Order: sequence, then structure tokens, then C-alpha cells
Amino acid sequence: MNVLVLVGSLRAGSTNRQLADAAIAHLPTGVDGTVFARLADLPHYSEDLDHDDALPEVGRDLREAVADADAVLLVTPEYNGSLSSAVKNAVDWVSRPRGAAAIVGKPAAVIAAAGSPRAATWAREDGVKVLRVAGAAVLEDTVGVGSSFQAFTDGRLGDEALDAELRSLVDDLVDAVEQGARSAA
Ligand SMILES: Cc1cc2nc3c(=O)[nH]c(=O)nc-3n(C[C@H](O)[C@H](O)[C@H](O)COP(=O)(O)O)c2cc1C
Repeated sequence: MNVLVLVGSLRAGSTNRQLADAAIAHLPTGVDGTVFARLADLPHYSEDLDHDDALPEVGRDLREAVADADAVLLVTPEYNGSLSSAVKNAVDWVSRPRGAAAIVGKPAAVIAAAGSPRAATWAREDGVKVLRVAGAAVLEDTVGVGSSFQAFTDGRLGDEALDAELRSLVDDLVDAVEQGARSAA
């Protein structure tokens, strides 16, 4: 099983990247987590680019990565009360073409880290909303890290209860994949 991880902060030293790594560390044995490393290279979605002769390679690769993944984990900072444009753009790319979009029916979950103690509540709500509208089978539960610059020590969440919540959400995502596989069999 493979979980594709989309990280919405593009900066070096990102706390969301640390949160992504903490989530990947909680994946059970036999489940891989892969961060899509080229979101910074993904052009803003445009229908003018969404044709065989214009499709950027990175857009094609993102769609293939989502199609090949068993689940998607969206990891986002809160920017001005919403999810980051980097992950919103990624969702837009994988929500097309209509009728054959890679994200449709894909189990997905949202986690977020932000500087304020509100723990990116709005970014998480909007992340769930856009994934649902795009057609993913998104978990309603999310995990948010507030005051993110103080939250990690050596790549681990200092708050053990929050880390347990993260593990539980990751388990729920894996369960969703397994349930989908059982009902398809
Ligand atoms: C453009 C911008 C807008 C921001 N808006 C919010 C916000 O609405 N709520 C919030 O809690 N933090 C906000 N922040 C602070 C980010 O949550 C903080 O920089 C966060 O750690 C970024 O994630 P990163 O460490 O993964 O880069 C904003 C930061 C930037 C650069």
C-alpha cells in the first residue's frame, strides 16, 4: 500500500513537512508514504494546459502518482484562513479530466500545522471541503498542530496526546483503503 503525501508549504524547514514525516513514521509496516516533491514546479491549473499537447510533465506525473496511490494525505499550513494555494492547485490538477480524475473515490485525509494556536482549523475545514468536492473519499476527522514552531523536537511532535491523534488518523486512513479493497472484492 502506498500513501501519497502532498505538502502545502514549499519552504525549507517547513513544520508541515515535519508533520508529514511524523505521519509517515506512523504508517504501519508494509505501507509506504511518499511525498510528492515537485509541487513547487506545478503550474497554476489552466484548462489551456489540460490537453495532450500542452500538459506539463509535472501535472501528468502528479495525476499518475495520485492514480497509483492507495490514499492521499494532504498536509497544509493555514494561509490567510485557508489551505495553501500549492495544495489547492494540486487538488485542482487531480480533479480533472472530468470523468477520469485521479482523485475520485480515493481515500484521503487532511492534517495541518500553523503558527497560531488555532491549529489551522480553517485550513483543515477547507482542505476537507475541496477534497470532497473534487470527489475524494475524505475522512471528516483531521489533525491540527497549533503554535507549530514550538511543536516539534527532532522531527517528533512534543505533545504525546496530539501524536496519538495523528497515529489514530493515519490508522483510519489505512483502514479506509482496506475497507474499500474488501468491498471491491
Ligand atoms: C501568507 C501567510 C499567511 C498566513 N496566514 C495564517 C493564518 O491565516 N492562520 C495561521 O494560523 N497562520 C498563518 N500564517 C502563519 C503560518 O501558519 C506559519 O508560517 C506556518 O508555520 C507555515 O507552515 P510551514 O512551517 O510548514 O511553512 C500565515 C503565513 C503566511 C506566510
